[in-house]
Amino acid sequence: ANIILLGPPGAGKGTQARKLVDERGMVQLSTGDMLREAKTSGTEMGKKVAEVMDRGELVTDEIVIGLIEEKLSSGQGNGFIFDGFPRTLPQADALGRLLAKIGQKLDAVIEMRVDDEVLVHRISGRFTCGKCGEVYHDATKPTKVAGTCDVCGSTDLRRRADDNEESLRTRLMEYYKKTSPLIGYYYHAGDLFGVDGLAEIDDVAASVAAILDQQV
Ligand code: AP5
Ligand code: ZN
Repeated sequence: ANIILLGPPGAGKGTQARKLVDERGMVQLSTGDMLREAKTSGTEMGKKVAEVMDRGELVTDEIVIGLIEEKLSSGQGNGFIFDGFPRTLPQADALGRLLAKIGQKLDAVIEMRVDDEVLVHRISGRFTCGKCGEVYHDATKPTKVAGTCDVCGSTDLRRRADDNEESLRTRLMEYYKKTSPLIGYYYHAGDLFGVDGLAEIDDVAASVAAILDQQV
């Protein structure tokens, strides 16, 4: 199945996407991860992207659509999980076109519903493993051994440059202005499913799994 995980920053998109990769062999396409990779590449594009991302604004549609197009042509495992894409109506239209081009379609758009108050808490406590990408939280998902990744044992644990209060405020505004209209867009296309993103990580995963199993 091909699905979109839709929700504000901190809703838990990346956390659920990683579970689906492990448990179902799906392919995670996170434009945030791709852009962070471009950021470290030192290219002109990378430098421009870094400034925009660190402020919490959206990168241009052209750039992210280009990144997704590149990945779609290279294998698909058990379906794609679009994580953090699309984020604008032009991106949503482009995704429909790109999937059609490779003979695929969208099976479900999963809206992760959360309250703004918890997002601040989630974002301010987040850290990730620089080696394997596992996502942690100081309070809700700490590592078993302090300073060491549970999954790969790396001690390279990082916080994101855009996980500060000011950038988060911008990211939320960008979400409400530009991304939340996609909820109506996909509702009318008949593809929208809502899950309670405030539940525990495993319970959210169970809701997502139930939706996926209905689609197959
Ligand atoms: P991106 O990387 O996509 O970030 P985001 O949308 O802000 O989402 P996050 O990664 O912050 O949150 P998440 O929902 O994945 O939550 P997570 O699972 O980590 O984008 C970053 C930037 O890149 C954008 O601002 C923009 O500049 C640019 N960009 C990216 N895509 C773009 C596009 N398509 N177009 C234009 N620009 C684009 O969880 C958060 C925390 O909560 C973690 O600590 C986790 O452990 C914890 N947690 C998760 N679930 C639960 C739970 N159920 N209960 C308790 N804790 C939980
Ligand atoms: Zn790791």
